[in-house]
Amino acid sequence: MRVRHWETIALVFVAMLALGVSRAVAADEIVVDPEECAACHEDQVAAFKMTPHSSLDSQGLAHEAGVTGSCAACHGDPTQHFEEGGGVGTIFAFGPDSLPSEVNGTCLTCHGDSHPNFASSSHGRMGVTCVDCHQVHPAEGEAWSALKKGDNFHSSLDADRASDACQDCHGEVFAQFEFNERHRLQEGVLECTTCHDPHEAQTRTMLGGFRQDQCVTCHRDKGGPFVFEHGSVKAEGCVACHTPHGSPNRHLLAFQNVAETCFSCHAVLPSFHSRFTLETQCTSCHSAIHGSNFDPFFLK
Ligand code: HEC
Ligand code: HEC
Ligand code: HEC
Ligand code: HEC
Ligand code: HEC
Ligand code: HEC
Ligand code: HEC
Ligand code: HEC
Ligand code: HEC
Ligand code: HEC
Repeated sequence: MRVRHWETIALVFVAMLALGVSRAVAADEIVVDPEECAACHEDQVAAFKMTPHSSLDSQGLAHEAGVTGSCAACHGDPTQHFEEGGGVGTIFAFGPDSLPSEVNGTCLTCHGDSHPNFASSSHGRMGVTCVDCHQVHPAEGEAWSALKKGDNFHSSLDADRASDACQDCHGEVFAQFEFNERHRLQEGVLECTTCHDPHEAQTRTMLGGFRQDQCVTCHRDKGGPFVFEHGSVKAEGCVACHTPHGSPNRHLLAFQNVAETCFSCHAVLPSFHSRFTLETQCTSCHSAIHGSNFDPFFLK
């Protein structure tokens, strides 16, 4: 076995091109050449060259993690690993026993600016980590891709789609996309990520709260503003009446009948409505149900 060379460098100037600043490397900073790892991890190092992270050195960004060198930027100080001639448990490995906060924290040292709210996202709060969805090292014999493939592979979904990364954990949602009335996810008209940003806090429009923003980018005519707004559309959003993924009901409605949808909020109706039943097509008269510029009752 060859002797590993790695050293503490006194003064190296790293141009932090990507950040537009330059800074001196701290006196006690550890510099690791990936070739030192290649002696034992030849395949990983070779495959790693195809990935965007292999340029960390030249970008000077690896510096952020306290060590320089593309491998050490994520795996940290390899001193113990070298001392013990490699081996499990002697270097930070993003393994099952790593704390989610350590895993995410490592990635966020560099990606914190673009994903500042991850810790308060549904995923971050439940201990889902970056590497549950992302892969850094290419899978053996495959080209690099930023996202992991779902194991639970949906027969009609291509593996290179963003939605594929959601499959293993959200099987129930995929099942909703099997209904006849559905958004055409399988056909590639949209992705899970069209409506959701998996990195964002739940309070943001993409994950929770007021969810109209994404819907009206495609369904512009439903967004208003209208002279006469339908209170529910404004206050609770589209999902007050529609299920966004898929539904056995026409028009992706949350209830089987239009009337049932209306009755879920309107208990008191004008007296001449007493003859109406669950089968009544309320929208045959209240046709501008999403809002109207002409009629306060959303009539034709
Ligand atoms: C951007 C962060 C990052 C960089 C840079 C990085 N790795 Fe990794 N490495 C990971 C993650 C994350 C895992 C855990 C595997 C997974 O979840 O895909 C891992 C796992 C490993 C493993 C153990 C698992 C396996 O595939 O056998 C080895 C060995 C490894 N990396 C070596 C290296 C070497 C060598 C370099 C430099 C050429 C390097 N890594 C650079 C993030 C990184
Ligand atoms: C002297 C050989 C040797 C060198 C040099 C070496 N490793 Fe390892 N490394 C190993 C061995 C052996 C294992 C255990 C692998 C296994 O069981 O598949 C290992 C495992 C790992 C793991 C997984 C650890 C775990 O707990 O699962 C990571 C990550 C890793 N090495 C990264 C690196 C990085 C980064 C470098 C360079 C800075 C490096 N190694 C240099 C031999 C080496
Ligand atoms: C030392 C800084 C650093 C660390 C640590 C780091 N990254 Fe990166 N990452 C980068 C840079 C730089 C790029 C290339 C960005 C570019 O080309 O725009 C990149 C690219 C990416 C991309 C690809 C983006 C694209 O455009 O397709 C993903 C995904 C990513 N990183 C995820 C991770 C994950 C997950 C981790 C933790 C395991 C991690 N990164 C750790 C600096 C880092
Ligand atoms: C639940 C799955 C999931 C988790 C967890 C996740 N990501 Fe992502 N990430 C994605 C998907 C999907 C995309 C592609 C988005 C798209 O195609 O619109 C992406 C894109 C990215 C990109 C490239 C584009 C961009 O938006 O900057 C980076 C970098 C990135 N993620 C970093 C991270 C980091 C760092 C973490 C952890 C703090 C993380 N991701 C956690 C699913 C995830
Ligand atoms: C490793 C498992 C895992 C993967 C992969 C994953 N998720 Fe999640 N997701 C979770 C967990 C756990 C929660 C929190 C569950 C809860 O609050 O009920 C969650 C919550 C969510 C929520 C919010 C639910 C709410 O009530 O606020 C959305 C939206 C979501 N995920 C979308 C996605 C998308 C889109 C992808 C693919 C890019 C994805 N997830 C991939 C595990 C995962
Ligand atoms: C057309 C936009 C849209 C698409 C596409 C979409 N979602 Fe959603 N999703 C929503 C909205 C809006 C909600 C909130 C529903 C509510 O509050 O009743 C939601 C809720 C969720 C929830 C939490 C509640 C639940 O139903 O479990 C999860 C998890 C989720 N989506 C995951 C996904 C995944 C995974 C995909 C891709 C397979 C996906 N979504 C595709 C709009 C969308
Ligand atoms: C108060 C309940 C309610 C709310 C809230 C609501 N809708 Fe609807 N929507 C309906 C009903 C009822 C129908 C069926 C109309 C019919 O029977 O002709 C419908 C039909 C639709 C249709 C298909 C028919 C058409 O007119 O194009 C689309 C698309 C639609 N809604 C999108 C949206 C969007 C986007 C939002 C949020 C901005 C939204 N809806 C909010 C009740 C609602
Ligand atoms: C990327 C564009 C896009 C986004 C975003 C989007 N939709 Fe759609 N939606 C469509 C398309 C296209 C259809 C037509 C159905 C099809 O593909 O066959 C549709 C169909 C519908 C229908 C059924 C229409 C009918 O005639 O029965 C409803 C209701 C609906 N969308 C509501 C929503 C809601 C609510 C949201 C937000 C949670 C949303 N959409 C987000 C593109 C989009
Ligand atoms: C999620 C709750 C909700 C649902 C479902 C709903 N509405 Fe409304 N609707 C409201 C609210 C809130 C107002 C505003 C009431 C106010 O300002 O007093 C309103 C107002 C109206 C008005 C205007 C008259 C008025 O009282 O201001 C009509 C007409 C109406 N709704 C018809 C319908 C019909 C028809 C349906 C079924 C297609 C329906 N609504 C479904 C909540 C709902
Ligand atoms: C034959 C046409 C017609 C049908 C069908 C119809 N409506 Fe109406 N609705 C009206 C008219 C006209 C008004 C306005 C009454 C007025 O001027 O006070 C109205 C008013 C309302 C109002 C406002 C009540 C108020 O005083 O604020 C609600 C809520 C409403 N309808 C709900 C429904 C629901 C729910 C259904 C289905 C079960 C339905 N409508 C079916 C014609 C109809």
